[in-house]
Amino acid sequence: MAKQKTVYVCDKCGYESPKWFGRCPVCGEWNTAKEFQLKNVDTESKSIRSNETGMDEPHPRFVDVNKAYETLEESRVRTNLPALDDILSGGIVKGQVMLLGGEPGVGKSTLALQVCASIVKHEKEKVVYYISGEESIAQVALRAKRLGIANSNILLSSETQIEEVLNGIDIEKAKMIVIDSIQTLSSVDIDSPVGGVVQIRAVVEKVRIFSKKYGIPSLLIAHVTKEGAIAGPKLVEHVVDTVVYFEGERTTDYRILRVQKNRYGPSGEISVFQMTENGLDSLSDDALVNHSQTPGNVLTSAYEGSRPINVQIQALVSRVKVASGRRISHGVDVRKVIIISAVLSRHLNIPLDFHDIYINVSGGINITDSGCELAIAGSILSSFLDVYVGDTFMVGEIGLDGSVRPTVNIARRIENAKKLPISTILIPSHAEYNGTSKSKSSNKVERAEKMEKLERIDNVRRLFNYMLDLKKGVE
Ligand code: TYD
Ligand code: MG
Repeated sequence: MAKQKTVYVCDKCGYESPKWFGRCPVCGEWNTAKEFQLKNVDTESKSIRSNETGMDEPHPRFVDVNKAYETLEESRVRTNLPALDDILSGGIVKGQVMLLGGEPGVGKSTLALQVCASIVKHEKEKVVYYISGEESIAQVALRAKRLGIANSNILLSSETQIEEVLNGIDIEKAKMIVIDSIQTLSSVDIDSPVGGVVQIRAVVEKVRIFSKKYGIPSLLIAHVTKEGAIAGPKLVEHVVDTVVYFEGERTTDYRILRVQKNRYGPSGEISVFQMTENGLDSLSDDALVNHSQTPGNVLTSAYEGSRPINVQIQALVSRVKVASGRRISHGVDVRKVIIISAVLSRHLNIPLDFHDIYINVSGGINITDSGCELAIAGSILSSFLDVYVGDTFMVGEIGLDGSVRPTVNIARRIENAKKLPISTILIPSHAEYNGTSKSKSSNKVERAEKMEKLERIDNVRRLFNYMLDLKKGVE
């Protein structure tokens, strides 16, 4: 007999305990404890251990590491959407379970439908199943019409019970399953509200077991709000193979698809899309940069995943009467902005305390790369001094002592930045000694020097002087 493990899970926040609780010790809600049986996992592992691999085969079986890699690569199915294939190391793997998260309205259903259409574009036999618990079949069909999709290999259903859904799938024909969204499906085994943590976990677990057993990839759509109000999707991230998030501001058409976790390739990779009248188009990331002629804009490069993307940092520095200027930031961690403005205030002896500082990253992208710090400092000073440096590309890190320090992959960043019409490149003084491939990297830096003006700076004072010189030149 498979041993059943019972856990009690708070339906509000996902807190888990082996014992029943009346009031959740984490979120403080009453009566949210739901009993959760982990029997699926046990029975699954048991069935795999007994006959699934064939009675006559000796246990355990081993595969050599090269063969395992080849098998994995052979099983990759291209979605034929290059922007997606690129960030998924070439395509979706057999049995891969992917979570596609994002805020409502960002374009998850649109992307999923485009993936479906693309994946079965040239298929005669295979079909994709699109389970829409969120919208009616008619609404999905309308969207497909809008996207110009007329493909009878996409099968729609608005069934919301996961057992019914999975029973209805023809495992011979299925190329992929899309569930839109996991918050709208439920399991017969679970007596708990639809959309709650407990139901989501049960639904995802059933799909996961199904996908692995039959080698059919699945794409699970999940709504996530900025405040993280819906805990469910976050709590299943560890169960799925791949987590991709769709980011973007409502005010712009740009969307960034970011791989947050990937068991079958690198994580951190990103692709840029634009939401158009007829669905999502993939874009080169240079589209994120607009060539504004006003002070406060600086071009830089963010290393996201395995490649640099060109972005523009925008700052607005505005005087206030008291020495408690606010720091507000979109796309960069506000703590970074606080630290950089403190470094500038202290080492340049300028009254940034008496200024509000607003930072924005063009295109609504979120960047975490510390190589952008020099550009953040540059954009703050550009706005503070009211001097235009919009065609200057800056890359480097800033130390608390006001030093400008090398960052990773400077040479690749510069190569990529040359797609933009830049006049000057500002890098840390010792940049050419940075990086693993020293000789190659310094060659590239030298080449850049011949084509664009290359300035090396070692501290924020030099940056400030550079800006002052430009200002003098203008006046
Ligand atoms: P949708 O895919 O429904 O978002 P989600 O599933 O993440 O909630 O798309 C949301 C928005 O995209 C909606 O406001 C309409 C817009 N849209 C376009 O601009 N062009 C299109 O071709 C489509 C299908 C949608
Ligand atoms: Mg949707």
